[in-house]
Amino acid sequence: MKIESAKLRASAKGLEECPSSNLPEFAFIGRSNVGKSSLINALTECKELAHTSSKPGKTQRINLFTVNDSWTLVDLPGYGYAKLSREKQGEFNREVSAYLTERENLKQVMLLVDSQIEPQGGDLSFALWLQECGVPYSVVFTKTDRGSDSKTANHSGQFRAELEAYGLEPNKIFMSSAKTKKGRGQILQWIEQQLPK
Ligand code: GTP
Ligand code: MG
Repeated sequence: MKIESAKLRASAKGLEECPSSNLPEFAFIGRSNVGKSSLINALTECKELAHTSSKPGKTQRINLFTVNDSWTLVDLPGYGYAKLSREKQGEFNREVSAYLTERENLKQVMLLVDSQIEPQGGDLSFALWLQECGVPYSVVFTKTDRGSDSKTANHSGQFRAELEAYGLEPNKIFMSSAKTKKGRGQILQWIEQQLPK
């Protein structure tokens, strides 16, 4: 899919502030700092569309970007950022879970998992929760440019095995890097397949 345009439509505090839309939405979720905003920029080839930071906790709102005037990419706040107050974490969790479970035009959740660290319980729990809620999701391993191929394969293989052990079946699993754009073509193709013809 060729990206002709990508622009910020809204930056919402919660589901209520998300403008109603008929365009199919694809939402990116994962631990703080996993690379959600960076991957959105890599997919759209717009360096500064979504704001990124080396410090976790950068994205604090539900940011909706309209792509090619025909579908929407959604950048969500990350989970598991320990430095946030418990109150703020609770607020994020409520807002993000309301968006994920109640947004009518949400087509697919992309659950991002860092390929450079051992499988994290929080990521597995999140996949379990999505499946329990009946939310369609895919897994995207990020930052594959960072370590050796064997380390990346080892971590992603362990996480896949855990998914399987819990009977979890993401629709798709992608390997990606925002830096080298690995996986960009496959992710965009998968999104394109889900757009109305
Ligand atoms: P929050 O908004 O805080 O939840 O984080 P996020 O998941 O949006 O992460 P973000 O895209 O801001 O990236 C976090 C850090 O990881 C930044 O320093 C990025 O440059 C770096 N990063 C993201 N993706 C990649 C990647 O594919 N490769 C490498 N080497 N670094 C990456
Ligand atoms: Mg972000």
